[in-house]
Parts: sequence; C-alpha cells; structure tokens
Amino acid sequence: MNTPTSLKDKKIVLGISGGIAVYKTVMLLRLLQKAGAEVQVVMTPNAKEFVTPVTFSSLSGKPVVSEFFTANSGEWHSHVDLGLWADLMLIAPATASTMAKMANGVADNMLITTYLSAKEPVMIAPAMDLDMWKHPSTQRNLEILKKDGVMIVEPQSGYLASGLTGKGRMAEPEDILKSVEEYFSRSQSLKGKRVLVTAGPTYENIDPVRFIGNYSSGRMGFEIASELGKRGAEVVLVAGPVNLDFNLGDNIKRIDVCSAKEMYEVSRKEFPEVDFAIFSAAVADYAPEEYSDSKIKRENLSNLTIKLKRNPDIAAELGKIKTRQKTIGFALETDNEIENAKKKLIKKNFDWVVLNSMNDPEAGFMKDTNKITMISSEGEVLPFAAKSKKEVACDIIEFLERYNTNE
Ligand code: C5P
Repeated sequence: MNTPTSLKDKKIVLGISGGIAVYKTVMLLRLLQKAGAEVQVVMTPNAKEFVTPVTFSSLSGKPVVSEFFTANSGEWHSHVDLGLWADLMLIAPATASTMAKMANGVADNMLITTYLSAKEPVMIAPAMDLDMWKHPSTQRNLEILKKDGVMIVEPQSGYLASGLTGKGRMAEPEDILKSVEEYFSRSQSLKGKRVLVTAGPTYENIDPVRFIGNYSSGRMGFEIASELGKRGAEVVLVAGPVNLDFNLGDNIKRIDVCSAKEMYEVSRKEFPEVDFAIFSAAVADYAPEEYSDSKIKRENLSNLTIKLKRNPDIAAELGKIKTRQKTIGFALETDNEIENAKKKLIKKNFDWVVLNSMNDPEAGFMKDTNKITMISSEGEVLPFAAKSKKEVACDIIEFLERYNTNE
C-alpha cells in the first residue's frame, strides 16, 4: 500500500481529455490527493461531456480550468502560470486526438496550451479503442511524444468500452499513481550531484574538408545525459560531432567539441568539480600530426602519407587525477571480452566498465539497442539482456545511485 505522504508538497496539473475512461480519473484524483499532492484539474471541452467539472472541482477544492476565459467576468486563465506552478503535468486519459494535438502543437484548447507552456515534465496515460491505439498515426504520435520527453503509462489489455477486447484501456488509477510516485522518487535520486558525460565520436581534421572519424552516433551518451538530468543531476555533456534530434533537459550543459584534444581540454577543466564521470565517447586514438590550412590538392600528389600522433586518453588521464569521483567507462571488444574489459578498467582506474561486444548483433554503433555486461573494480560481472539505449542508460545510472549516499 502507498504511504499517504509519498506526494507531499507535490503540485500536479491533472489534464483530462474526452474518453470514457474519465470515470476512472475521479478515483485517480482521490488517490493523488490521499498521497499528499495538490491537484489542479484542466479539462478539454469533450471531457466535460463524460463527467461534469463539478465532480472534479468539488474533489480537488479548486475550480476546474477549461476555457481560456470565464464567460461572465472575462477573467483570463493563464496556462503559463500553471506551467510554472506545477511539478508534474499528468494527462489521464490521453485520447488519440489529444496525443495528436500534443505531438503537433495544435493549441485549440486549454489543455494543449497548458501542455505547450509546461516547464514541468509531462506524463500521459493513453486510453482508446484497440484499433485506434494500433493505428500507424497514433503510434507515430506516440513516438514523437516519447522523443519530446513525455513519459507514457502504457495502456492495458482487456475489455474495452466498444465491446472489443485488446490493448487500449487506460491503466488503472493505482498503476498511474505508482508511475507518478516512481517518477518523483527517481527525479530526486541524483539531486545536487554533478556528472561529466563524454559522448559521440571525435573528428581529427586533416584539412578544412577531410577528417579521420568513426561511426559512433552518440546516442548512448545522450540517453545517459538525459536520464541523469531527469534524476536531478547537473550534467556537463561534452559531445563530439553528432547528428541527433534530441531534447535534453534544462539541467544539462552541452559543450560541443570536435577533436579528442578539445574533448580532453574541456573534460579536464570540468572533472575536478564533478562527483561522477561517464566516458561514453568513441574517441579517436590518433590524429594527423600536421593539419593543412588549405585543402590538400590531389593534383600535387602522386601519393599521400598522413603521419599520425597519439591522442590523449581522456579517461586514463582523468583516472590518474581522480579523488572522490566515481567513474564509468565503456569497452567495445571483439575477443577475450571480459578479460580485456577488466584490463581496461584497471588501466583507466574505472569503478565500473560497461562491456559491449562487437560480436553481438544487438550492440554497437548506429544501433538503437545495446546489450551490456557491467564489470566492477571489485570483480562483479553482471550481464544484462538486450534493451533500448534509453533502458540501458537507466541500468547504468543505477550503479551511480549506489554511491549516492551523501556521506
Ligand atoms: O581503450 P578504449 O578506447 O577501448 O577505451 C574505451 C574507454 O575509454 C571509453 O570509455 C572511452 O570513452 C574512453 N577513451 C577516452 N579517451 C581515449 C580513448 C578512449 O576517454 N582517447
């Protein structure tokens, strides 16, 4: 059973759109309040057809916001103020239409304008008929919303109002409450901690148009930074050249660099101030010894030899000067994987190393999934199943949370 104060002092905007599942939202409001939350209800015009606003205003102790203006007085309801007030916006039920409007910024009602002004994180509990849920349009909107950082409480399978059976039922109020509670406990777990994350490839310039680089997309590091931010950490993300459409949170300072040398210099400067560092960048090991200011002309050469010099090993250099910092590195191996990863852990003075095997079809560069084994300096070896890079980021961060005792 939930402790009655798990949401004490939390302010929640409860957005309600028009589906039959609105009747469950009455119970959800009660549960949020019992857990200690202060709730402001915002309803779409359609939602009011299912359950009257009087039910929600009586229970929440606040007038329901639904129109842009109060008809008689002309009083304007500020969606911007709501966005500043709330710690979380929860939309339950979220209909297919509301999801589509959210994904595309169609601000034709108070719920969507509130969403577009929301400074706080947003969670939705979709509810609709099974065919509407499965429709490519809904699934496309769902992906857009996930990418925009919206948290999803997945609908459940079962008997639907249409008489059909399948996936589309809004999650039960108790399950939605659990997701809200989990979000708030997660969002505090790294509050006050500073974390350095390196991500992406590095490019080592040969001349103004050519470089030596690698295929790293940077996605793993960006997922890690984004998840750290959601847990309240202050993140410095040192990113090589990446081409990612990524919505990072407010507490992430992104510093773009190009070469390994630049990545080293920025990381070296930030490192003394951080509690944790995660080295997920695929740093080029070598750079051209000489850089040509003008484009090297093919006509002037019978053949071209590029002399290379070693780049700084960022993780190893910072490993030498680490004091209180806990560090996590990556190892991408092709053979003797565990043994090589352990060697890397010692050489670079990591507390944990994340091993991904090149032999694994679900791991590596340019993929959306990863399959890792976590290895600790104390000898623990913990294999994980293949997961999305977002889920892998969450798994890795759990190891940092172990150290987060504030001693
Ligand atoms: O030695 P290897 O490149 O396999 O080590 C991988 C780990 O070391 C990764 O965590 C990577 O980010 C880090 N690294 C680094 N600087 C380098 C090379 C690797 O920080 N020059």
